[in-house]
Amino acid sequence: MNRSRRSAMEVNQNLHFSSLILIFFFSILASSSETQMYIVYLGEHGGEKALHEIEETHFSYLQSVKDSEEEARDSLIYSYKHCINGFSAMLTSHQASKLSELKEVVSVFRTHPGKYVKHTTRSWEFVGLEEGESLFPATMNKSDDLLSKANYGRDVIIGHFDSGIWPESDSFSEEGMEPIPKRWKGICQTGDDFNASHCSRKVIGARYYLKAYEKCYGTLNTTLDSRSPRDRDGHGSHTAATVAGRRVSNVSFMGKLGTGTATGGAPLARLAVYKVCWAIPHQEKVNGNTCFEADMLAAMDDAIADGVDVMTLSIGTASPIGYQEDGIAIGALHAVKRNIVVSCSAGNSGPAPGTLSNPAPWIITVGASSLDRKFLAPVVLGNGMKIEGETLTKYKLKHTLYPLVYAAEVELPNVAKSVSGQCLPNSLSSEKANGKIVLCLRGNGTRIGKGIEVKRAGGAGYILGNSPANGEDVESDAHFLPATAVGSANAIKILEYINLTKNPMATIIPTTTRLHVKPAPYMAAFTSRGPNVIDPSTLKPDITAPGLNILAAWSRADPPSKLSEDHRVVKWNFLSGTSMACPHVSATAALLKAVHPSWSSAAIRSAIITSAAQLNNIGTLITDAKGNTADPFQFGAGHLRPTKAADPGLVYDASYADYLIYLCSSGLTKVDPSFQCPKDLPKTNDLNYPSLSIANFNGTVTVKRMVTNVGRSKSTYFASVKPPLGYRVKIRPTVLSFRRIGEKKSFMITVEAESDTVLKHEQLDKYRFGWITWFDGIHNVRSPIVVSSL
Ligand SMILES: *[C@@H]1O[C@H](CO)[C@@H](O)[C@H](O)[C@H]1NC(C)=O
Ligand SMILES: *[C@@H]1O[C@H](CO)[C@@H](O)[C@H](O)[C@H]1NC(C)=O
Ligand SMILES: *[C@@H]1O[C@H](CO)[C@@H](O)[C@H](O)[C@H]1NC(C)=O
Ligand SMILES: *[C@@H]1O[C@H](CO)[C@@H](O)[C@H](O)[C@H]1NC(C)=O
Ligand SMILES: *[C@@H]1O[C@H](CO)[C@@H](O)[C@H](O)[C@H]1NC(C)=O
Ligand SMILES: *[C@@H]1O[C@H](CO)[C@@H](O)[C@H](O)[C@H]1NC(C)=O
Ligand SMILES: *[C@@H]1O[C@H](CO)[C@@H](O)[C@H](O)[C@H]1NC(C)=O
Repeated sequence: MNRSRRSAMEVNQNLHFSSLILIFFFSILASSSETQMYIVYLGEHGGEKALHEIEETHFSYLQSVKDSEEEARDSLIYSYKHCINGFSAMLTSHQASKLSELKEVVSVFRTHPGKYVKHTTRSWEFVGLEEGESLFPATMNKSDDLLSKANYGRDVIIGHFDSGIWPESDSFSEEGMEPIPKRWKGICQTGDDFNASHCSRKVIGARYYLKAYEKCYGTLNTTLDSRSPRDRDGHGSHTAATVAGRRVSNVSFMGKLGTGTATGGAPLARLAVYKVCWAIPHQEKVNGNTCFEADMLAAMDDAIADGVDVMTLSIGTASPIGYQEDGIAIGALHAVKRNIVVSCSAGNSGPAPGTLSNPAPWIITVGASSLDRKFLAPVVLGNGMKIEGETLTKYKLKHTLYPLVYAAEVELPNVAKSVSGQCLPNSLSSEKANGKIVLCLRGNGTRIGKGIEVKRAGGAGYILGNSPANGEDVESDAHFLPATAVGSANAIKILEYINLTKNPMATIIPTTTRLHVKPAPYMAAFTSRGPNVIDPSTLKPDITAPGLNILAAWSRADPPSKLSEDHRVVKWNFLSGTSMACPHVSATAALLKAVHPSWSSAAIRSAIITSAAQLNNIGTLITDAKGNTADPFQFGAGHLRPTKAADPGLVYDASYADYLIYLCSSGLTKVDPSFQCPKDLPKTNDLNYPSLSIANFNGTVTVKRMVTNVGRSKSTYFASVKPPLGYRVKIRPTVLSFRRIGEKKSFMITVEAESDTVLKHEQLDKYRFGWITWFDGIHNVRSPIVVSSL
């Protein structure tokens, strides 16, 4: 194992760091006549054209900047021709700028490995269970009524963009499923370890995309990954099982912690698998996986033509990027034109503000929060103090008390100060650590790997302490020795005890499962935050869903920790990330599509947003991982409530044309040649969105909204407002009466500062949050508002 990899930072900076190196590397190339990978985006197709004509058009554009036909042919990667119009090619910066001058071209932009990442927290922090030890309760247990109304999603096709699938998992069994919907036009693409028998009534389609990957890294090394839709990573199987895994009953966790049923959100929905993420050569699996934008765009183009209803993407840019240079935003826009719902993860770059990805208003952007379940394994100190800890390890201590040490006290002398106390490989002295419980801090290295080091040095037990950056997000891991993990405040308590005690002692109590943990949910520390730096007048994320310690199917070709020292083969694995939250929302969208087949993708998003919960299970506002009140920059409208979303009362609808007007207002006027931007451009926050964000507030702002009645035919709704601190919010009219389903009514929202003094002195550098609610006695249709003068 190479040295730099071993000291790879545990936190997300690592991903940003490596992509910075890549950007740097590629900018050196850019200065020469070397070619780089570009996407040339031409917007919507104008008029009816045969596929070969479109290909010829793309080729002629390319040829116009290349010296020969052969050079043009060699440089072309994909021609996107079904629904998205554009191509990817190797170009010099000069050729790219020549193409960008053509009047049909919407944008020409660079794409590079590392631009997109999967949204699993520190992918090398994966946790796992050993063979024969299985899983735990349903992730969407409270929606049985909605599930049966939606026929468990059996007529809905979910397009899944990830690292492929492990089709043999019980979660993907086709047993008892009805024939494949006739409208399905996709294929089962065979390859390494994947033949036609691996597609089924459950996995109805499977394809893989690696032209862009191979343009960059050369031919795929099939020792690392399969040239087929087979998942050799685990992430793809995990997200696929969360969105649409079958019910698997009588599964028990660690053999004794009770039995339960594991199920995905839409258990009878069909999966169409598009493998777009691959292993990176010469990288440890814990660090090495990439999803190329040019490959994703080809997959999205095919998926639209194949006939998927919902797209789930637990992938996003490593840092915020404008719509015209963001392949997922582009693909999603063309999907939404065909009324496909696109649901994406917000990213794991929290708690810093302004970090979220996938901010386009035609996408559902999902943050991550905790479940109300913990795997508790407390530490008891020699003085009797009991400290809450969490773990999934099956190993138990034999004796009552053991000597307790902080790792820095039992380290070898050559350990660098910057990583002292972190139990990196070969850092501990066997002489000093032997027989003791060792406290190691998070930072560099992997959570399970630190335990492996304690075990190597002869330690009896292991306590993983959060550093302040990890806050109180405690992740339960299947360690290789008796172990538990504690939050930052508790890690400090243990350190203080060690410091102040002559012979510090401790023990770790074996794991028990606690359900209905309070308070829950709370926002994960890692979830990416608003404000939306791409368009501050669209409030993002939209919603939060469970993303901490989520159990689902795993690939048997990858150990649960992804570490080379780990030889366990598992069927199920626990992961954390907005990657895990996104498929909960995608599944809800699939069920809503089944219950309300005529609803637009905007209506489905609106229902999910306006029905969300803001309170946790102790009746107070949802908090962050440190216990402070969270806000819509973390949770959007709040926590996902699938059953409520099925009956939202009113929806804020929007059409493809509305998005085009929004794009005109954002300065993107050429996306659809059949569409003319209006002369009087509205403000971007006039888009009929179920939330409201006002940036650059200066004086009075008025926006229009329109709601559609989807509840009872005759109903009257009354408006109520919780204004942002320091502002007045007026709704006109305050009463809306409906006489039939489908009826639309408009209203105006006016926001004013309470007084100039407030505006000048206190508002300037603050974001203030409020709510607007329409209530008819049954439905609460609630929208978050954010105002700032920034
Ligand atoms: C969860 O689902 C199981 C099986 O369907 C059911 O018995 C149980 O009551 C549900 N729990 C909750 C909290 O809804
Ligand atoms: C497909 O693969 C399975 C095992 O992975 C094998 O049993 C089966 O014979 C193969 N089918 C064909 C048609 O090759
Ligand atoms: C393919 O990957 C394996 C495993 O990492 C490695 O041993 C082998 O050298 C690689 N082959 C090539 C051609 O790079
Ligand atoms: C559930 O699993 C346990 C252990 O694998 C087994 O003993 C038991 O018979 C199973 N129960 C049912 C109802 O299948
Ligand atoms: C990780 O290690 C590097 C190099 O030793 C060090 O500079 C950095 O501070 C460490 N990061 C953390 C979070 O401990
Ligand atoms: C423990 O003591 C060391 C020095 O002996 C000090 O640097 C450290 O801050 C102390 N930690 C706590 C949590 O008291
Ligand atoms: C706010 O508007 C007033 C008058 O409309 C103008 O004088 C002032 O410069 C504006 N302030 C900012 C920060 O734009």
